[in-house]
Amino acid sequence: MNILIVGGTGTIGTKLVESLSKKDHHIVLLSRNPKKYSKKFDENVSLVDWNTNNSDLLKDINIVIKLSGESVMQIWTKKIKKKIKSSRIDITKDLKNFLEMNHIKPQMLINASAVGFYARKDAVYRESVDEFSPNGDTFLADVCKLNEESCDIFTKEGIRVVNLRIGVVLTKEFYNLVRFFPHIGAKNHFFPWIHIDDVVGFIEFSMTHNIKGPFNLVSPNPITHQDFNSIVIPVYFLRNIIPMTEMLEYGYKTIPKRTLESGYQFKCIDLKDAVASFKK
Ligand SMILES: NC(=O)c1ccc[n+]([C@@H]2O[C@H](COP(=O)([O-])OP(=O)(O)OC[C@H]3O[C@@H](n4cnc5c(N)ncnc54)[C@H](OP(=O)(O)O)[C@@H]3O)[C@@H](O)[C@H]2O)c1
Repeated sequence: MNILIVGGTGTIGTKLVESLSKKDHHIVLLSRNPKKYSKKFDENVSLVDWNTNNSDLLKDINIVIKLSGESVMQIWTKKIKKKIKSSRIDITKDLKNFLEMNHIKPQMLINASAVGFYARKDAVYRESVDEFSPNGDTFLADVCKLNEESCDIFTKEGIRVVNLRIGVVLTKEFYNLVRFFPHIGAKNHFFPWIHIDDVVGFIEFSMTHNIKGPFNLVSPNPITHQDFNSIVIPVYFLRNIIPMTEMLEYGYKTIPKRTLESGYQFKCIDLKDAVASFKK
C-alpha cells in the first residue's frame, strides 16, 4: 500500500514506520522539518514538507495516517494549549488542502485521538467507559472531541475514517524513564495503558479490515495506579508543578469494546508481559 503519515516522526510513527517498511509498503512522511529526520529512517522511507506540490512520491497514496500533535508533556501555558489544539484540529484542514494540492484521494484516514476523550472532572472512576460513552468536560476531552470531529470533512467525502482513542503508550524508552520514580499515583484511578506493539498492530489491522469510527486503544486488562507497581508515574510531583495531570488523574476504567469486537487480537494484555518485553 502507499501510505502518507503526518506526524510520523514521533514515538508512535517511528515504530509504525519500522513495522510497515518491513512489509514492503511505500511510505511517505509529511513533516514540518524533513531534513531533521532524514537519517532517522530507512532509505525506502521518503520525507516531504508541507509545501510539496505534485511530487511523484505522492502518486497513488491510498492511506493517510494522522499522528500529529504538539506534545502534552510540557507546561500548559496559553500558548502551548493553543498549539496542542491546532496541531490536532486545525491541521486536519491543512492536511485536506495538502492532499487536494497533490491530487491525493485516499480511501482511508487513520486519526490519532486519545482516551482523554472521556475525562470528566466529577467522574466516579470505578465506572467504566467504552466507545459508546459520551465525551468528558476537561481541556483534553474537548481537544479529542474536536480532533475527531475535524475529520468529518473526510467522512463526508466517503473516506473511511478510523479514530484511535489511544491510552498511555508504553515503550521501552518510556518504561526506562518512569521506572525510577516512586509509586505515588492516585491509587484507585485507572491507568489506561497500551503496549506500543498493539498501537502499531491495530493500525495495521485497521488498514486491511473494513472498520470505521472510534476504537479505544488500551489493554483489555485495566489496572489501577495501585496495581501499577512496576512502572510508575510521578503524579504528585507533576500535580504540584504542572497543570497537565488531568491525563493521569482522571483515569477511567476504559474498555476497548469496539476494538475487541473488531476481531483484533491484542499482542500484550498483561502489564507484566509488557514490562518483560522492555527488559529484553
Ligand atoms: N504516545 C502516547 O502515549 C499517546 C497517547 C494518546 C494519544 N497519543 C496521540 O497520538 C499522536 C502521536 O503520538 P506520539 O507519541 O507519536 O507523538 P510525538 O512523539 O510527540 O510526535 C508527534 C509528531 O507530531 C508533529 N508535531 C509536533 N508538534 C507539532 C505542532 N505544533 N504542529 C504540527 N505538528 C506537530 C511532529 O512531527 P514533525 O516534527 O515531523 O512535523 C511529531 O513528530 C499524538 O496526536 C498524540 O496526542 C499519543
